Amino acid sequence: MYLLSALSLLCGLMLHGSCSAPNPLSSIRRQTVHYHNELKSFREDGIFNYSTMVVREDLGVLLLGAREVIYALDLNDISVKKTVVYWRVTEEKEKECIGKGVYEAECRNYIRTLHKLNETTMYVCGTNAFSPTCDYMTFVDGQLRLKEEREDGKGKCPFDPFQRYSSLMVADRILYSATYKNFLGNDPVLQRNPDKLHSEQSSKWFNDPTFVHMEFVGESFESQDGADDKIYLFFSENAMEYDFYSKVVMSRVARVCKGDTGGRLILQKKWTSFLKASLDCSLSEASLPPIVQDVFLLKNDDWRKSIFYTVFTAPSSLFQTSLVCAFNVSAIRDIFNEAKFKTEVSVENIYTKWVTHAGEVPVPRPGACINKTPDSSHDQTLQFLQKHQLMDEAVQPMTGGPLLIVKGPLLTRIVVDSIMALDGKNYTVMFVGTENGYVNKAVNYGGEMLIVEGIQLYEEPVPISTLRLSESKGQIYAVSEFGAVQMPVSNCSRHATCVDCVLARDPYCAWDLATKQCSSVTGVSNTALQSLKEGDSTQCPQLDPVMAVNLVLVPGNNIQLLCQAHSNLAQVHWRRSGQILRPNDKYHFADWGLLIVGASTSDAGLYICDSVEQTADRIHNRTVGSYQLQLSPADSTTVTSVDQDGFKVAVILLSLTCFSMMAVIIWTWSKGHLQCFKVAPSTSQSQVERNPLESRHVQNRI
Ligand SMILES: *[C@@H]1O[C@H](CO)[C@@H](O)[C@H](O)[C@H]1NC(C)=O
Ligand SMILES: *[C@@H]1O[C@H](CO)[C@@H](O)[C@H](O)[C@H]1NC(C)=O
Repeated sequence: MYLLSALSLLCGLMLHGSCSAPNPLSSIRRQTVHYHNELKSFREDGIFNYSTMVVREDLGVLLLGAREVIYALDLNDISVKKTVVYWRVTEEKEKECIGKGVYEAECRNYIRTLHKLNETTMYVCGTNAFSPTCDYMTFVDGQLRLKEEREDGKGKCPFDPFQRYSSLMVADRILYSATYKNFLGNDPVLQRNPDKLHSEQSSKWFNDPTFVHMEFVGESFESQDGADDKIYLFFSENAMEYDFYSKVVMSRVARVCKGDTGGRLILQKKWTSFLKASLDCSLSEASLPPIVQDVFLLKNDDWRKSIFYTVFTAPSSLFQTSLVCAFNVSAIRDIFNEAKFKTEVSVENIYTKWVTHAGEVPVPRPGACINKTPDSSHDQTLQFLQKHQLMDEAVQPMTGGPLLIVKGPLLTRIVVDSIMALDGKNYTVMFVGTENGYVNKAVNYGGEMLIVEGIQLYEEPVPISTLRLSESKGQIYAVSEFGAVQMPVSNCSRHATCVDCVLARDPYCAWDLATKQCSSVTGVSNTALQSLKEGDSTQCPQLDPVMAVNLVLVPGNNIQLLCQAHSNLAQVHWRRSGQILRPNDKYHFADWGLLIVGASTSDAGLYICDSVEQTADRIHNRTVGSYQLQLSPADSTTVTSVDQDGFKVAVILLSLTCFSMMAVIIWTWSKGHLQCFKVAPSTSQSQVERNPLESRHVQNRI
C-alpha cells in the first residue's frame, strides 16, 4: 500500500518538479507551514461575514463581530465561546431596504464597528439594512448585552456592508470616522462624533476615496511648543494633481488636530486643520504608484519614534507585487509642518493644472492646530486652507524604500511586534496576511529581507481581512470569511535540530544547549544560541553524519534519488565521487531529487546530495542525502526509508507501474511540452515544495 501510494505521488510530483525555476530570494518564504487542524479557530454554522475584532486583554476575551451577531471568545483559546449577543434587523427595516432595490442578503445587520469605551462597555455599529445604527454593549458577569440605546450611525459606519471605512475611538469617547455617509455610498466624510465636525463636501478634500486606517498620536505629550494631539487617516483616492487621461490612484495620509473647533465664518463646523500628503512606497519597475491597503502603528513611548508600517499593492495585474514601507510619524509631521503646498492654476482659462505653490503662505501656518475658536486673525489662514489641502512633497519611507517586497498572492493586512532577542536588541517582526489565507512572518535585517515563514491559516485560499495582535498573550488573531483563527507569534519547537533553529533566524527562537531544544528566547537558559543577521550555526553541536543508503542498480532502469532541501531558500547540489553533477541527457534535476535516465553499470558509485543556503554573508552547506548504487543481480524493486535528523530521505527504485508514465513525462519534458499548473505570470514566481512524501505538501507560491 505504502509503496503504491508513494509511487503514484512520486509520478504526480514529477510534473510539478519539472516546472520549477530559480526564485528571487527576497520574495520566498524560507519555510512554509501548511494548513493543519491544530490551530485554534472559531466559526459557527449559519453565521457569515466575520468582520471586526477587538482584543480585550483586560477582560480576557476576543470580541468578534459577524453578520447580526457579536461573540466574546476566550482570548487564550478562541474556539471557546464565552457568550454571544444577536442583533438582527427588524422585518420592517428589511422590507424598507429591499424596497429601495438592495439585495436581500445585504439588507441585514453587518457589524462593522467595535470599539472599547471603558472597562465594561463597547461601542458597536452595524449596517442595519442600509440604515447604519450604533449601540452600547456591556460585558458583565460573563454576559454580552446590548443596551438598546440605538444611535444614528450615519457618518460613523457605512451603509454598504462591502465598503471599506475606518473609525477610531479616542479615550474620551470621541469617535472619529472616515466613511461614506449616504445611501448611495458616494458622499465621503471624515467626521468627529458626537459634535459632527466634518470634512468639506469637495473632491479636493476626498476624491472617490477608499478609507483604510486611522490612528491617534498623542503629540501633546511632553511637548515643548504646546503641540496638539493628532488623528492620522490613511486612504487612497483618485489623484487630481496629474494631467493624465486615465485615472491614477494615489495613497495618502491626512491629519487633523484633536482640538480642532471648526471655523467661525469660514469653514464653519468643518476641519480647520485638515491636510493631506502622498505616501511614496515605490517600486522602480512599476509604472503606477502602489496603493495602500493596511496600516499598523508600532507605538513608542516617544511618539516621534512611533512608526507606521504600511502594506501597499501594485495595481498592475501582470506582476502581482506587494510592498511594506515604514513611515516615521515625525517624517509625516515634518511634511505637514514644513513642506510646500500644491496649488491649482488655470491655464489660459481652458483647464487647470496643479503646481507647487510658490507664493506666500499665511501665518499662522495653514493646518497648524489652532486649539481655540479661530478669530479674524486666522481668516487668511483658513481661506488658504480652503484651497490648499495637498502637500507638494510626498512622505518618504524611513529606509528610503520598501522593507519587504513580495511577488505572488497579494498582501492584505499587517500587524507588527517588537521582540528583544538574545543579543539584547529589539527586532521588529512583521506579520502580514495574504489574499490566499497565509500569514507571513518577516524581518528586515539591515536591508536583507527575510520571510522567516509563511503559515497557512485557512485550508481555503481566502483573503485575510482583519489581523490583531495580543502582545501579552503572544498571539495573533486573523479573520476571513471562514471565521477567526488564532496563531502564536512563534512555534520554536518546529525546529528539531540546533542548525535548523539557528538558521531559521527567527528572533523569537534560540537553541538552548542545556535542554537541547529550540525554545522561546524568553525562556531559554544562559547557554543558548541565536544568530539573526548571520545565521551562524558553527557553534551548534555536530550533526551525526548522514549514513549512505545502499541501493541496487539495475542496468537499463531509470533511478530516482530523492533529496529534500532544508528550506525553500536552499538549493540542492549533487556530487558523485567528488564531482559536482550537471544536468544533461543522463542526469535530470527536479525539486524532489535526481533522476538518472537509463542507468548503466558505470553509474555505480556514491551519490551525495547537499542542501546549500545563502544568507547575507555566509553559505551554509549541509549533506542531506547519500546513496551508494551497487551492481547486483537482485530483484529490481527496493524501498528503503531512513529518518535522519528529522529529514525524511527515501529512495525508490522505479517499478514497472511508474515506468511507462515516467517515459511519457520525460519525453514531454525533453520536448519542452510540459504544461505547468499554477505557474505565476512571471516564471520566477513559482515555488514548489520539496518533500514529495508528505501528501499535505502541495505546490504553492507566496
Ligand atoms: C457574506 O458572506 C456570504 C457567504 O459567505 C458571501 O457570499 C458574501 O459575499 C459576504 N458578504 C460580505 C459583505 O462580506
Ligand atoms: C462606561 O460607559 C458607559 C457608556 O457611556 C456608562 O454608562 C458606564 O457607566 C461606564 N462605566 C464605567 C465603569 O465607567
